[in-house]
Order: sequence, then C-alpha cells, then structure tokens
Amino acid sequence: MSGVMSGVILVTGGASGIGLAIARRFAAAGEKLVLADLNDHAGEAAAKELSADYRHLDVADETSVESTVSAIESDIGPIAVLINSAGLLQNKATIGEFPLDEHDRIWAVNYRGSYLMCRAIAPRMAGRDGGAILNIASINSFTPLPLPAYTPTKAAIESLTRLLAAEFGPGGVRVNAVAPGFTLTPAMQSRIDSGDRDPKGMEALSTLGRLVKPEEVAEAGYFLCSEAAAAITGVNLAVDCGYMAAISYNSYPS
Ligand code: NAI
Repeated sequence: MSGVMSGVILVTGGASGIGLAIARRFAAAGEKLVLADLNDHAGEAAAKELSADYRHLDVADETSVESTVSAIESDIGPIAVLINSAGLLQNKATIGEFPLDEHDRIWAVNYRGSYLMCRAIAPRMAGRDGGAILNIASINSFTPLPLPAYTPTKAAIESLTRLLAAEFGPGGVRVNAVAPGFTLTPAMQSRIDSGDRDPKGMEALSTLGRLVKPEEVAEAGYFLCSEAAAAITGVNLAVDCGYMAAISYNSYPS
C-alpha cells in the first residue's frame, strides 16, 4: 500500500503516546514515516513495528534539529508533513514551589522544540509543493490550569500555530494544532501510577465522563494534515471529551 501524501511524514516524540498513535494512523494509510525521539530504545521498537525509519533527535537542541532534518531530507526524501509531538508533562505546582530548571526544560522542549522544528522545516516546505504541520497544544491553551510552565507553553504553541499559518500560507504550508484533553498515554499513566494524577477526577471533569484515547487525537491530527482539511489552517482543534464545554457549564453559580 502506498500513501497519498507526497513525501515523508516526520513525527517527533514518535516513540510513545500521542506521537506513536499518530504515527500508527499515518502508517495505516500507507505513508512513508520517520520517527524521531530522544528515547532510542522505544523509538527503534516503534519504527520496527511500523516499517518506518528512526532518527535520534533532541528537539530542544538547534544543532540536533538542523542536522536531523537535513539528513532525513537527503537520505529519505522531502518532508511533506511534520508532527510536533515531543513534549513533557508537568505535575500540579505553584509558581513559588516549582523549580526554575524544570520550568526552563519544559519551555525548551515544548515550545522551543516545536519552534525549532517549524523553523527548520516550514521554509523547506514553502520552497517546494507546500506541506502540513501539526502542533500538539492542549486544553491548557484555552484556560489556565495550575501548571506554571506547561500551561503557558501550550498557550504559546496555539499562538505560534496561528502566526506560522499566516506566514507560510502563501507558500502552501498549512499549520494546525490539536488540543487534547486528559489523554491516557504512558506519560499520563506513570503519573496516575505514582499518585500525582487522579483518573476519577480527570474523568469527572469531562462531559463524556472518560479520558481521551491517543488514537482519538491521532484521528483528528490525521484529518488536519490530510487533503480533507485542505481549506483549514491556523486552528487548534480540541479533542477533549467535552472538558472545555463542561468546565464553565459546571462552574456556573446557582
Ligand atoms: P509521552 O511521554 O508518552 O510521549 C512523549 C515523547 O516525546 C516520548 O517518547 C519522549 O521520549 C519524547 N521526547 C521528550 N523530550 C524530547 C526531546 N527533547 N526530543 C525528542 N523527543 C522527546 O507523552 P504524551 O502524553 O504522548 O505527550 C505528547 C504530547 O502531547 C506532548 O506535547 C504533551 O504535552 C501533549 N499532550 C498530552 C496530553 C496528555 O494528557 N497525555 C494532553 C495534552 C497534550
């Protein structure tokens, strides 16, 4: 089976969670995939499962980003779709107690990582047939949660998505985001296991009464990158089991 997209699909954070689910969705459509991650062991296993290529990548490091992107384009082919799923979660904290080095690392990976990847790839896409970029935002893009580094990175990613959609639209590059709600990925599961997240509490906050599955985020992300969404750019699509609708509705004072 061969896909319909004219080039390589690059998925950062493709070794796990939402990135891996998105990679599986593109693989099911027969697309040519490259997974890139810091975690080589998991990344190589995922690439083997999907008959994909794998590259070591630190999205927070400019040299790693530039050399990895150049190598993929010269060894495998032009990148038609970029999925920016490499990211770090955070546990609840106040600004006073949250260590500054952790704050800086979350910004370096979540925001700067997405920025560096777009900076390396969007101009290449615009210089040929265009392309599609998907950023992974969050319900944190829309409303402040007590995650003093994570929340602002996701608001910034939504802003970056719109900014880049405007800058690169004339070059045929569409830039969109998905905003997952609480999603049961390995990163989330390990926080549930350690007692840092309460699954019942998270389920109760969404109107559908459950967590989001990574495959459900993947389906929305695939749509936004596909020709079916050819007129859509600059959006941040919530995939949140109705969290955003329920949170204000349920807090209305009687
Ligand atoms: P995950 O931990 O399962 O997957 C993240 C992947 O990114 C891992 O394979 C990790 O090795 C990789 N990674 C981390 N730092 C990296 C770096 N510097 N360079 C390259 N790869 C790196 O986490 P999950 O939950 O799948 O998160 C993926 C994205 O989805 C993140 O941006 C996260 O903020 C976002 N998201 C997750 C939600 C959730 O509830 N799980 C909700 C909303 C957004």
